[in-house]
Amino acid sequence: MADAESSLKEYTGIDPNKNFHLDVPPGKTNFHVKGMDNVDWGMKDRLSRIFNPKSGNTLMLAFDHGYIMGASTGLERLDVLIPELAEDIDVLMATRGALRSCVPPTFNKAVALRCTAGSTVLSEDVTKEIIGVDIEDAIRINASCMAVQTFLGTEDEKNSIENLVKTINAGNKYNIPTLGVVAVGKQMARNPQFFSLATRVIAELGAQIIKSYYCEDFEKVTAGCPVPIVIAGGKKLPENEALTMAYQAISEGAHGVDMGRNIFQAEDPKAMAKAVAKVVHEGYNDKAAYEFYLDMKKR
Ligand code: R5P
Repeated sequence: MADAESSLKEYTGIDPNKNFHLDVPPGKTNFHVKGMDNVDWGMKDRLSRIFNPKSGNTLMLAFDHGYIMGASTGLERLDVLIPELAEDIDVLMATRGALRSCVPPTFNKAVALRCTAGSTVLSEDVTKEIIGVDIEDAIRINASCMAVQTFLGTEDEKNSIENLVKTINAGNKYNIPTLGVVAVGKQMARNPQFFSLATRVIAELGAQIIKSYYCEDFEKVTAGCPVPIVIAGGKKLPENEALTMAYQAISEGAHGVDMGRNIFQAEDPKAMAKAVAKVVHEGYNDKAAYEFYLDMKKR
């Protein structure tokens, strides 16, 4: 591990000796979700609820923050917020508690079900998680995928990988994909080397979708990852910057965004959800999407 640790400490660009064949587009396949040609019909059906077959991309609305943070800013009343935004997004990323108590089951949206649990903002160390939702409950809730937080490079790495592979094994029995979430703790590296390593490891362990962060050299991260990456939104940015991040990520090989605070804490969350959707599905660049946002906000 010494080499990996030292190479992650200081980022100097993903090793220029590695050839990610950036000039070669991914091989032509018969299915619109990267790396998923050979999975079964049920898995493809769920993946097609997540990734729009026309654009190949997805807009996930993350509102699972409450399982760690309680009623965080913008998510005080899910029963008010979610019905406003549901029509503009593809996937509801949430806990089972939020879905069952606050989200009408009539929206017919894909669900990325948060399946790990184990700490809150009151804990000293948020990396120690368990599987909090069993496969039967994921089936009952009609999850389109199960989300598992993965803390690579921490003391809890092995436990975290165990949560991931157990969920993947259970999901594979019933054709429910697993969304492996690259977590970044306070003490962890957040550079392209780390994201390249983490996304590839999680894909090789069998996750069908990866959630990770946008970073420098992102096109190498996506090229080296054999399954789709959706980017995490992260802390609230000014709306134009969040749209630029989404645009750059999609231009550099992401297949969608899983965005929370940058949508629901926006000055106009509905206009922001619609603007992000333009980038994700309709090829808008960041400037056009921001103009669209401003225009929608006036209405
Ligand atoms: C991380 O995996 C959790 O799902 C977060 O609760 C969520 O993704 C955070 O979303 P955002 O950073 O866009 O607010």
